Amino acid sequence: MTRVFSGVKPTGHLTLGNYLGAMRRWAAVDQHQADALFCIVDLHALTVDHDPARVRRLSRQAATLLLASGLDPEVCTVFVQSHVDEHPRLSYVLECVATDGEMRRMIQYKEKTAREGARGGSVRLSLLTYPVLMAADILAYGADEVPVGDDQAQHVELTRDLAVRFNQRYGHTFVVPRATHPKVAARVMNLQEPTAKMGKSEDVGSGIVYLLDEPDVVRKKVMRAVTDSGREVAYDREGRPGVTNLLEILAACEGGNPEDLSGVYESYGALKKDTAEAVVEVLRPVQERHKELCADPAYVEGVLRNGAERAREMARPRVDAAYRAIGLLPPV
Ligand code: TYM
Repeated sequence: MTRVFSGVKPTGHLTLGNYLGAMRRWAAVDQHQADALFCIVDLHALTVDHDPARVRRLSRQAATLLLASGLDPEVCTVFVQSHVDEHPRLSYVLECVATDGEMRRMIQYKEKTAREGARGGSVRLSLLTYPVLMAADILAYGADEVPVGDDQAQHVELTRDLAVRFNQRYGHTFVVPRATHPKVAARVMNLQEPTAKMGKSEDVGSGIVYLLDEPDVVRKKVMRAVTDSGREVAYDREGRPGVTNLLEILAACEGGNPEDLSGVYESYGALKKDTAEAVVEVLRPVQERHKELCADPAYVEGVLRNGAERAREMARPRVDAAYRAIGLLPPV
């Protein structure tokens, strides 16, 4: 059976981008078709300036939202990265296979360091090694597929390179994984800045739809979305990024093709109105289930406890094998 691994980082409230680009597909498709693990990658949340209490809160919230979005702990494994020591254990060994230059070429590293530099801040060493820890997340489980949004493609590519390099040098140990992306909404853009990704840690909050936004807040954000000069509703990523983003969101929510939808609308107003309602409807069941789950924190805790136990059992043999292959003496 195909093994799937994916994760979400608790650095901010989860967004419509996370949902359409990743979470929705995990629940609808991946967990049923594969032996799947979904992880709240809290160690990754420590790579940027953080507030410990907030990371804890967001980790719990992310777990609750993953379950609310339809992940079924009877079918898949949901767990928290820091509960399974195999991740940092393997990450160190992979750091001995990766190069400094490779890390510095990562787009997300360059973007984040540029932003920190502009703020006069310093960059944590863990931000540089972030992609290695991500590779460890994936390789520890022998995942074949990694369902993610477009923005993670380069990280998965690096994971492949590290797996191949390790296997060539030290003997076959890792499965070489591949990224899978949704056909529509693989990169949902910020509604106020449609040339930038809708990211949970970004500053332009009015352009971000959060999964827990009230319906009226969602409507307001979508109705105020920046559109483009010109009146025609056309699908054109370069020339009409604002309208194209709305078409993508609408198509992802309703099922359909964004290019076909462009022919249906004569005005931006009508497109925005339908998009807002479609988003409200997509989020409604998730929000309802989230409310129920918040009333039962012991259930969520139990899921995470069992998930971590299962994940440890799955990861340990491969990580032990990597330790032996690279030359570390087994404990006596
Ligand atoms: P993160 O937490 O930024 O995002 C979680 C998932 O949501 C997708 N996503 C989007 N998709 C479409 N449009 C958007 N605007 C958008 N924003 C986010 C992401 O592509 C991702 O699939 N480095 C990862 C977390 C991670 C991971 C892993 C993922 C750590 N280890 C191992 C897969 C496998 C991240 O920061 O995701």
